[in-house]
Amino acid sequence: MSDSVTVRVPAKINLVLAVGPLRQDGFHELVTVYQALSLADEVTIRSADRPEMRVFGEGARSIPVDGDNLAWRAAAALARHQGWRGREHELHIVLRKRIPVAGGMAGGSADAAGTLLALAELWETGLDRATLSKIAADLGSDVPFTLHGGTAIGTGRGERLLAIDAPARFHWAIALSDGGLATPAVYSRLDDLRAAGATPSARSHQEVLDALHSGSPAALASVLRNDLQIAALSLRPELQATLDSGLRAGALAGIVSGSGPTCVFLCQDQPQANEVASRLRRSGACRDTLVAHGPVPGATALPTTSSLLREVAR
Ligand code: C5P
Repeated sequence: MSDSVTVRVPAKINLVLAVGPLRQDGFHELVTVYQALSLADEVTIRSADRPEMRVFGEGARSIPVDGDNLAWRAAAALARHQGWRGREHELHIVLRKRIPVAGGMAGGSADAAGTLLALAELWETGLDRATLSKIAADLGSDVPFTLHGGTAIGTGRGERLLAIDAPARFHWAIALSDGGLATPAVYSRLDDLRAAGATPSARSHQEVLDALHSGSPAALASVLRNDLQIAALSLRPELQATLDSGLRAGALAGIVSGSGPTCVFLCQDQPQANEVASRLRRSGACRDTLVAHGPVPGATALPTTSSLLREVAR
């Protein structure tokens, strides 16, 4: 048994996010194509006498370390599933954040997915990914995807996944904003805008799948779509200037990521992503920038010191 387990979990973006009607349960029916990006959080968990959480990195001070944190909810859900109610109180959890907080890139979901995988290992549950995925779905719509990674179609409220084999690598410049946006507020603004006459755009996820298979960044750039973008822009009009700056900086296309306010810019290749990121940073149209590529695998346990020593001894 390991002393601690560390799991790396990717951010997600939505290449297409087609939002359907509001359901009885308060969620919207949607069709999305997720892509996991090389921007990742790390979750490290070890057993402890009492519960403790430490958070480092991007936005650390704004993250709750109590039971409101989705990582604790994930630990409680796994303990409950195993019939070990209360065992989540015997954990020390460290989150190393790189994914923007409340930024529309599933940072909180990634931490929950990382917690599930780390604990499945630490507690030696022997649970497979399909079972973890079911627990993940109850925690949040994006949690199963951050566990799964790669590229996938998401349906239902986003939790039902169909993996897509699309290995071509795409390069992204990412513009971080000051402050986050609350996902429910963005969905609800979209409902208001639609009630006032805004219509969903006509693009289908099939166009995105074709573009992914072609491997052409230009083809993908022409079909990116996010129905939540008008709602995010309505709540944060200054994001339009960020999107415009990214295009002026040479990106092939830019969209708000998920519910925002992070904006992501598809670029021709890695050098162009670096260039777009540095021009965007200099333009002052965003708080900071990053670069990333996708797709990458989902939540992955990093080798522990003891497993590395075992390898060396072989
Ligand atoms: O599933 P998750 O916890 O990420 O959802 C947060 C909120 O976002 C929901 O409570 C709901 O208001 C909104 N949402 C939605 N439709 C979805 C996913 C999320 O309305 N498909």
